[in-house]
Amino acid sequence: MIRSPIITVMEQAARKAGRTLVRDFGEVEHLQVSLKGPANFVSAADRRAEETLHAELSRARPDFSFLMEERGAVSGKDASNAWVVDPLDGTTNFLHGIPLFAISIAHVKDGVPNAGLVFNPVTDELFVAERGKGAFLHNRRLRVAARRDLANCVVTCGIPHRGRGDLALFRKELAVIQNQVAGLRRTGAAALDLAWVAAGRFDAFWERNLSSWDLAAGIVLVREAGGFATDIDGGDAILDKGSVVAGNEEIQRALLALLKSA
Ligand code: IPD
Ligand code: CA
Ligand code: CA
Repeated sequence: MIRSPIITVMEQAARKAGRTLVRDFGEVEHLQVSLKGPANFVSAADRRAEETLHAELSRARPDFSFLMEERGAVSGKDASNAWVVDPLDGTTNFLHGIPLFAISIAHVKDGVPNAGLVFNPVTDELFVAERGKGAFLHNRRLRVAARRDLANCVVTCGIPHRGRGDLALFRKELAVIQNQVAGLRRTGAAALDLAWVAAGRFDAFWERNLSSWDLAAGIVLVREAGGFATDIDGGDAILDKGSVVAGNEEIQRALLALLKSA
């Protein structure tokens, strides 16, 4: 476990917001059967979690800037330190009573992700990483999976939905990749996809059209677990381009090459 001041701040904020999310998730499970459904309730839950995170993080570091999904970019006195936060990653899962969602918090220093936390409050799994200090799930140090052959790999991805993204391109990529791997998954929570790559559960992950708050924490986790993460063109502009390919060195390279060929 990492016992640095920045991780402690992130963990306390995440645990507090996590408690309200779990309460609200219990309510959502009841609302499934109502005719109106839980949509409005879920956006309120999302906003409540963001409020809590904003209050806790700014209390601990009053000068830091913020980039949050709901409130957008808020510059603080300290422009070189920012919190990049998704209060609820996996909203569609949450809305449908599927317990696969997370709070994602990154500390970004001079544009570079320095520390990351991904917390699923339902399973109580808290993934943290800090540059140079490793990645952890509670007391367990994380390592990316060591498989070298794509044919044995389980790969997770994002699927464009509701007119967002390039579905035709995704279909081409899928046709190429599903031919080469042991299994494909789609969790619906990009921050968890990255945390699970860091934990060696998934061998690799790729997705386009993401935002900084989906990615910033997870890429610290993957890298500190010994993995590689680049944008979809193999470069370092993950946050700017909103795309990612992650895995161990060999699998990440192989996946990049396949995506290029699609
Ligand atoms: C979404 C999830 C999902 C990804 C979407 C994201 P949200 O975030 O990470 O896995 O495919 O593109 O927008 O909306 O649930 O915070
Ligand atoms: Ca998200
Ligand atoms: Ca979100």
